[in-house]
Amino acid sequence: MKQIGSLLVFPSAEAVTRAAADRFASVAAESIAARGRFSVVLSGGSTPRGTYRRLANDPYARQIDWAKTFIFFGDERSVPPDHPDSNFRMANEALLSRVPIPPGNIKRMAGEGDPNASAAAYEADLRAWFGRADWPRLDLVFLGMGDDGHTASLFPGSAALQETARWVVANWVEKFHTFRITLTLPAINHAARVLFLVTGAGKTERLAQVLNDEPSDAPLPSQLIQPLEGTVEWLVDEAAAPK
Ligand code: 6PG
Repeated sequence: MKQIGSLLVFPSAEAVTRAAADRFASVAAESIAARGRFSVVLSGGSTPRGTYRRLANDPYARQIDWAKTFIFFGDERSVPPDHPDSNFRMANEALLSRVPIPPGNIKRMAGEGDPNASAAAYEADLRAWFGRADWPRLDLVFLGMGDDGHTASLFPGSAALQETARWVVANWVEKFHTFRITLTLPAINHAARVLFLVTGAGKTERLAQVLNDEPSDAPLPSQLIQPLEGTVEWLVDEAAAPK
């Protein structure tokens, strides 16, 4: 089986949030010391909320240099930022509105409006931030995994999985009958560190498949997260861990 990263199993979802917050703080310090800034991609869904809340409180809130921290998003639903389904809204309520981060450091993916135009605009923002790089070298990318093996808004069988040139695309998601905006596989796979947070018994079977099965001719999107020059860690609780 191709090693697709290291698996760390924690006794509870709470312990996963602590480890994830520790990783965020340490990568932030390391990145800022080395390059004067820290770029991090936040994932949506429900799993990361606990981590974001933890980061909004001491000791983390005090430790992190928010003025040099730049927040990006891995994906966004086709909804406005105040919608209950908005990944931005979740991150903003749990973390961003609670820490002294300059508003200009938060690069929101616009879920409202035309998805293709929003994806192109987000890519332009990213390219401006990363200069003339061929691919964004994100310091840290948080990802979750759906029970169908999707990650970000890269769903099984969706067109975005074939994208090799763009950094951000609007991806039609048949199961939800909607477009979602998402970072592409190459954009994620050029990151320095990828951190999957997966908790709960509902993910056990799929996680075992993602980690243990040889990617078939239709690999699960989470199996395709293989940083070219970076690391991927799976922080999971015992409930989700493969037995
Ligand atoms: C989203 C996320 C998505 C999420 C998984 C897991 O927009 O929903 O980016 O990729 O990480 O669906 O979601 P849960 O954490 O809610 O299980």
